[in-house]
Amino acid sequence: MPASINKAQRIQKLPPYLFAEIDRLKKEVASRGVDIISLGIGDPDTPTPAHVVERLVTAARNPANHRYPDYEGLPAFRRAAAGWMASRYGVTVDPDAEVVSLIGSKEGIANLAVAFVDPDDVVLVPDPGYPVYHVGTVFNGGVTYRMPLRRENAFLPDLAAIPAEVARRAKILWLCYPNNPTGAVAPKAFFEEAIRFGERHGVIVAHDAAYAELFYGERPPSILEVPGARDVAVEFHSLSKTFNMTGWRVGFAVGNREIVAGLGKVKTNVDSGIFQAVQEAGIAALESDDAVVARLRALYRERRDVLVAALASVGLPCDPPPATFYVWVPVPRGETSAGLAKRCLTEAGVVVTPGNGFGDAGEGYVRLTLCSPVERLREAAERLRALRL
Ligand SMILES: Cc1ncc(COP(=O)(O)O)c(C=O)c1O
Repeated sequence: MPASINKAQRIQKLPPYLFAEIDRLKKEVASRGVDIISLGIGDPDTPTPAHVVERLVTAARNPANHRYPDYEGLPAFRRAAAGWMASRYGVTVDPDAEVVSLIGSKEGIANLAVAFVDPDDVVLVPDPGYPVYHVGTVFNGGVTYRMPLRRENAFLPDLAAIPAEVARRAKILWLCYPNNPTGAVAPKAFFEEAIRFGERHGVIVAHDAAYAELFYGERPPSILEVPGARDVAVEFHSLSKTFNMTGWRVGFAVGNREIVAGLGKVKTNVDSGIFQAVQEAGIAALESDDAVVARLRALYRERRDVLVAALASVGLPCDPPPATFYVWVPVPRGETSAGLAKRCLTEAGVVVTPGNGFGDAGEGYVRLTLCSPVERLREAAERLRALRL
């Protein structure tokens, strides 16, 4: 690139990439011939259900699906999404006005800020949290206020601790339950508190429910179950983790019609929607027999129990997560997140994610994923014994 061409301020202002050091070390360790076990990335290792793949194959052969799709999604896809909300949560939504399809929920999360954040607006984000809430905000000139999620508060943000001046300037409150990276779930009472906060301060309550189906106890609630939620809230759903479809790029946003329309307005201008054959496959996924997701939950539950027990036996005790495929492990006294992640990789060939990569309040933890077979999880923990934690 010519020296006179500078990257835009929004790119220059991005926080340093905290995983760069891990990526470098990973290459170095792999070049020594070590068989690396990666418990870093949250990407399912089992395939998309066969009936979903079959539907894609059939739909891909139909020339009607080869043209530009509508940005807001096929009416049938939005109806399937509405049907999903009704059957899972008893929430009735209008598929024409309260649902918009997304090219993966990440797209919608980033574009919500394009639609609603003006320069200097404040966006309230969980810390630790999925990085896109922050990046979407700063790309649009906004500033984030980080709400720490602490174990003593069940990894819920303390909304009463948000200063009045911050609440006054706030435009969006981001929540994510079941939570990445802590694995926590939120009770409905907390969602009620969040909706009341949104109403009081004129703030959009945006709930990221990417892990909604991966739970091991009671089904976690949708924020749209709360009375009045439809006035201020939008919820983001994803087929990625529920149906092993991370590569397919399909999800949807559902909730307040003005918020959904704002998101739609951005999308008409910057994308042209999801390949229709993928939407047809998405319909097949959303209309799957409950047994499909039940099998996935059973798989992750077994892995969770194996990994949590094995970690405890090598000096890394942690709470079994009630949901998600993440295990949030406190680092032993005397270690840091980055230091422990480095030792796991260089001394045991195991990739884990340092908690501070998700925000300062993630310091003191590492995140491990359950996206590997039980034998690999057992072996990973066994190798960590060498660290003498
Ligand atoms: C909390 C959270 N939200 C959203 C996403 C994005 O998912 P997708 O864009 O595949 O729907 C992820 C992906 O890892 C995530 O962890």
